[in-house]
Order: sequence, then C-alpha cells, then structure tokens
Amino acid sequence: MKDVYIFGIESSCDETSCSIVKNGKEEIATVISSQIDVHKNFGGVVPEIASRHHVKNITMVIDECLEKAGMTIDDMDAIAVTYGPGLIGSLLVGLEAAKTLAWIHKKPLVPVHHISGHIYANNLVEEMRFPLIALIISGGHTELVYMKDHYSFEKLGGTLDDAVGECYDKVARVIGVPYPGGPTLDRWSTEGNDTYELPVPLNDDSYNFSFSGLKSAVINLVHNEEQRGNEIRKKDLATSFQNRVIESLTKKTMKALEDKNVKNLIVAGGVAANQLIRKRFQELCEEKNIHYTVPELKYCTDNAAMIAASGYFAYQLGRTSDLTLNSKSSDTLR
Ligand code: KG4
Ligand code: ZN
Repeated sequence: MKDVYIFGIESSCDETSCSIVKNGKEEIATVISSQIDVHKNFGGVVPEIASRHHVKNITMVIDECLEKAGMTIDDMDAIAVTYGPGLIGSLLVGLEAAKTLAWIHKKPLVPVHHISGHIYANNLVEEMRFPLIALIISGGHTELVYMKDHYSFEKLGGTLDDAVGECYDKVARVIGVPYPGGPTLDRWSTEGNDTYELPVPLNDDSYNFSFSGLKSAVINLVHNEEQRGNEIRKKDLATSFQNRVIESLTKKTMKALEDKNVKNLIVAGGVAANQLIRKRFQELCEEKNIHYTVPELKYCTDNAAMIAASGYFAYQLGRTSDLTLNSKSSDTLR
C-alpha cells in the first residue's frame, strides 16, 4: 500500500506547531514553537498576544518542519489542521495557513478537533486497540470518551467546571509558581507528604469531574494559613492536592472501564505528562489486566504530530473539507 504523508498544523493555544506523520503512526519531523516565556509574565495565556505570536511564527515553523524532513508540501497527501476548540484568534492563524497551503498545492484539507488530536497522540506510541476508554486531561479539557472504532467518539462525562490542568495552574499560582504550574507541582509532589486535608472532588458514581471546589479549598487553606502567620509547606500541599486529583481521575476512569467492559485505556493531554498520574494508572491497569497507553512526554502537551496522526484517520474516512472551513472556539468532539 502507498505510504500516506499528512502535514499537520496546530495553533489552538500558545504553541505554534507543524509536523509530518507517515501512515498515522510514524513521525517524520515536528517543530513546536512555544510561547510559554511570553505568557509567564501575565500568569496565563493572553489571547491577543498569542495570536500575534502565531502570525509571527507560523511561516517559519512550516519551513523548518519541511526542511527538517527534507520534503515539500507537494510530497504530502493532505493538510490537517486544528479547527477548534481553542482561542479563536490563535486557531485562525493555523487555519488560514492550512487553507493557503491546500489551495496553492491542490491538497485535501482535513479539519481535526483538538481533543481528537490529543487522543491520537497515542497512535504514535502503538496502534490504538478498540474498544477503548480515553481520558483526556489538559489545560482546557477533562473528558472521558468511549471509542468503538476510529473516529467514533462517545462522551461519557467531563468536567462540570474547571479543567484539571487549569486547576493545577491556579493552585500553583496561589503559592507563587509561574504559569504553567503543572510541571512544578508534579516535581514537588514526589518530594512532599500528603499532610493537608483536602476534599476529593465530585466523589460520586457519575463519569463527571469537578475541580473548582478543590481549587477553592486550596486557596482558602493558603489564605487561612497566611492569616495565622503559618508558612505553607508547598511540597506537602502539592502532594496532597495531587493525590486528591488522582483519586478523582482514577476512580471515574476505572469505573468506566469496568462498566463498559473495556480492556484498553489511553490517557492523553498536557496533564498526562504528570509522573504520578502516569504511574498510578500503570499500576491500576496492571492490577486489572487493562492494556494502557499514554503518549511520550513531548506529545502530551500541544503539538502538531498528534493533529497529523488524527488527520490521517480522518483523511482515510473521507473527512475532508472545502476552503470555507472556519475555526470554532468550542465544538463537541466528532
Ligand atoms: O494539552 P495542553 O498542552 O493544552 C491544552 O490543550 O489545554 O495542556 C496544558 C496543561 C497546563 O495546564 C499544564 O499545567 C498541564 O497541562 N501540565 C501538567 C504537566 N505538564 C503540563 N500538569 C501536571 N503535571 C505535569 N507534568
Ligand atoms: Zn491541548
């Protein structure tokens, strides 16, 4: 069978990224230009600044990716792009670049949902096995999805308020850790002790999550301790916070696997880079005889390799679009 090369573009938040992936599973070249240092000064992503940086970076990132691979757009079978959800100004930059390439080089244009990209980052590890449960944990999303086959997404549950990554970043901020706080809390939590009393969020039998209560509990705890003149034991707080997050994520996910009688789990999204979350799922899956995959660390946070991987399957299914394609700040996974 002829090899299929997909050129992927991702620009939904603060990473401008392009990638070439062969047959949906083999990464040929990826370039990621992160704006973290720009947004750090503001404590979070500033949408207008993000769009301007995408405009500045996009052509360089495209050229660098092609150069790295030693290929041209004419070697590609299709152009896949994140059309949503995300920051609308940021999305538009990647989308316009993709449309321009598709039009000039007469290539099919493949719209990819950002969450689908995160899920398909796992196909770069090994071919996805169905049926599966996917847990997507990122800065903007916390979702449990059941998949019978490629591109068949049944949402089982999701967060009722904050996304888990958003909660990590806000908790980090209140104890003086710069954006994005997740990686620092991850490091600290391996050195601290679980000594602070915090609630397990939405500890019920549903597949939904809620993180705003846990976030508020941490903020209140920090303020109370400050008022009493007590110093916060940051590493212990990171450990206590993270253990409650893990209890919530693992309880709902393992329940979904059991209820649906599914033997394959994939975990994806920026927060899937978390060492303890990866380890805890690994242990539980070994115990329950579940086949578990999680992307390499570099493919957990936003990147275009995952968009190209997902784009390959969309392309095989004929899910292409004409040039009237528009970006969407929110959209259900499909
Ligand atoms: O997937 P992603 O790059 O962007 C979205 O689609 O939202 O995820 C970014 C999020 C941030 O909230 C960041 O703090 C979190 O992922 N994150 C982590 C870790 N690495 C990134 N959270 C916990 N532990 C980590 N190691
Ligand atoms: Zn993402």
